[in-house]
Amino acid sequence: MTGHSTPVAIIGAGPAGLMLAHMLHRAGIDSIVLESRSREHVKDRLRAGVLEHGSVDFLREMGLDARMRVKGMPQTGIDFRFDGAVHRIDFAAATGGRTVMVYPQHEVVADLLLARDAAGAGMWFGAAVQGIDNVEGPRPRVRYQLDGEECTLECEFVAGCDGFRGASRSAVPASVLRVHERVYPFGWLGILADAAPAAPDVTWGCHERGFAMMSIRSPEVTRLYLQCEPDDAANNWPDARIWSELHQRLDVPGRPPINQGRITQKSVTAMRSFQIEPMRYGHLFFAGDAAHIVPPTGAKGLNAAFADVKVLGNALIRYYANGDAAGLDRYSEVCLRRMWLVHRFSSGLCTMVHRFDQDSSFARHMQRADLDYMTGTIAGRLAFSENFTGLPVDA
Ligand code: APR
Repeated sequence: MTGHSTPVAIIGAGPAGLMLAHMLHRAGIDSIVLESRSREHVKDRLRAGVLEHGSVDFLREMGLDARMRVKGMPQTGIDFRFDGAVHRIDFAAATGGRTVMVYPQHEVVADLLLARDAAGAGMWFGAAVQGIDNVEGPRPRVRYQLDGEECTLECEFVAGCDGFRGASRSAVPASVLRVHERVYPFGWLGILADAAPAAPDVTWGCHERGFAMMSIRSPEVTRLYLQCEPDDAANNWPDARIWSELHQRLDVPGRPPINQGRITQKSVTAMRSFQIEPMRYGHLFFAGDAAHIVPPTGAKGLNAAFADVKVLGNALIRYYANGDAAGLDRYSEVCLRRMWLVHRFSSGLCTMVHRFDQDSSFARHMQRADLDYMTGTIAGRLAFSENFTGLPVDA
């Protein structure tokens, strides 16, 4: 059993863990990132990414925006399509200029890995955390396996950034940890196609056959989603069936139809909302997917992870600067207050745009009224725009 020590042990080299390590490093605080997968796996994990204006600012403040400024695609609005018509929400106009940036998450991770390399940072890949001891005490100990050897990492604080299936939540006693969850009665079939996006904006199809979305990965690659059964499988969807459903749910008269192309990726994602309370236990702090999961409808996963990290990073910097633990003590309360508003938006959108077969006719009329209100009134467009471009982070 070999032992090391560091001020902050960070479990997980996803966007949350890497961004926290980078933020602490810029403030002169050492950390070690323990990641169970290989560096190649982390780098090559393809994920969509729509960055809220606050996340774009955060990347810029952290000196990580060079590639984003070149490859990122700013978006000023979003197209909702129903009843054979387009109902565009111009969130820049509604919010006095706020935009979002289409910049895939794997590009963000690439930027973070480059920054960590430049800093000569402690990132240990293939280090699978098995458990965390003494989280209540001043010196937590992280147990992990590396190259088949049992190792430990002593620290002052642990950041559980190990995602939905990570090990860190098990360090919280069952009598303390509260889980709030909603599982949706549908999934999303997601595809990546070598086809130019057919519209300049992210496009949502709210159709009686089910929800569909067209988003932009690059000028040559389109990301497309179809509502499907929760237990559906990608091999139930031959390409012809996929394109037929996408055309029926997204094409509208007077606008170019969805462009078809070679499908390079096909997978089904289950849909859930998940939140743990508290987001801190002793010297263990949770950030990102380790603490919460939102359905992809609101494009909030990465942005919520960054919001947590900004609050946690500032709290740790304040503590190491002058021993003031106030930020650490209010971390959970601050993040939960913002996260419940993020859940409200993401879950509300999910309910509004998807087809629920078991819905009554009254429920269907309410769903349609919500769509009309959100796209057809000043207050509805502003409420959507304020949430979609990003709520403030109390950091
Ligand atoms: N030990 C070490 N590392 C682990 C362990 C473990 N026991 N369990 C999981 N990990 C690693 C995973 O391999 C992954 O690289 O933790 C990392 C968690 O990263 P993410 O799942 O990407 O979570 P997060 O950093 O919070 O980013 C959230 O990623 O999953 C998307 O949609 C999500 O956009 C959101 C973003």
